[in-house]
Amino acid sequence: MSEQLTAETVSQALASSLALVQKADNFQDLKAIKASAVGEESPLSKLNALIKSLPNDQKAEAGRLVGAARAELNAAFATKESELQAVADSEALELERVDITAYPRVAPKGARHPLSLLMDSISDVFIGMGWEIADGPELENEWFNFDALNFHPDHPARAMQDTFFVAPVDNHLLLRTHTSPVQVRSLLERELPLYVLCPGRVFRTDELDATHTPVFHQVEGLAVDKGLTMSDLKGTLEHFARVMFGPEAKIRLRPSFFPFTEPSAELDVWHPGAKGGARWVEWGGCGMVNPNVLLAAGIDPEVYTGFAFGMGIERTLMFRNGVRDMHDMVEADARFSQQFGSVI
Ligand code: DAH
Repeated sequence: MSEQLTAETVSQALASSLALVQKADNFQDLKAIKASAVGEESPLSKLNALIKSLPNDQKAEAGRLVGAARAELNAAFATKESELQAVADSEALELERVDITAYPRVAPKGARHPLSLLMDSISDVFIGMGWEIADGPELENEWFNFDALNFHPDHPARAMQDTFFVAPVDNHLLLRTHTSPVQVRSLLERELPLYVLCPGRVFRTDELDATHTPVFHQVEGLAVDKGLTMSDLKGTLEHFARVMFGPEAKIRLRPSFFPFTEPSAELDVWHPGAKGGARWVEWGGCGMVNPNVLLAAGIDPEVYTGFAFGMGIERTLMFRNGVRDMHDMVEADARFSQQFGSVI
């Protein structure tokens, strides 16, 4: 029996469609429901289709009935749609929520290492006097590290520096034990007269402790010219000391021995700003370039003379800037470096 178009059937059709709308809890469902509740095959559409077969005097009333039901259903869809939209919006907001009271995760900025800063400051002192910066390899030939510097094959001085030799030993390669090999490299590579400074990394078989590290830094100075004497060495070092330690700094030389200098001296600096009061501090080694070193580089020691000096950067940082423990310098903790700022 075909469906009758009455107030009752219309309100039933409406009620069943409204019930479906109410059940929808997402846009996809709602869309599917819309298709079945208002499409050609929907109960209200079917009732609507009956209008044309009604007697004319009933058509207007029936049209009004179905029209009102459709309007109500559409309104229900619209309401449901905006409800679902509100839920979706608040979910999106929740997802994108920014907690403005949360403590920011600031990635710690790095800082230049005080050893680098100190090497730069030292370089600046010498660049200011017209010197050039030189460098050489850290993996060095034994000849440059020892032989050319007048360390004889079985000279006990070779044992003064505990060396990392690199296998196979026949290749005569080692990790340079000091920056002094750059003296010979510079003499071979550059024109005379020559004034060079070489800050760099060096290696010895020491255990890491409060005052030692197997990898450390030195700065080497070499001047070769006609007529250079020990007083040029002293004047240069005195100027260097005053820039590094203040105008009251002074230096003293104590006789010593290095194979590559003759005479050789230990260099002490009077450090006016030392922690616990002004005092003499051992700073490095120096001397007049041994004629054998000049000869190894093909330079006539009768025509040219030179002076050289070398000191440890870590040691300098320790007594100049009050760093007590070598561990602080090798641990790469940015908080240590940050204390020194960017100028030292
Ligand atoms: N190379 C020496 C060392 O590592 C330091 C040194 C001493 C360098 C005297 C020099 C110098 O240039 O003249 O112990």
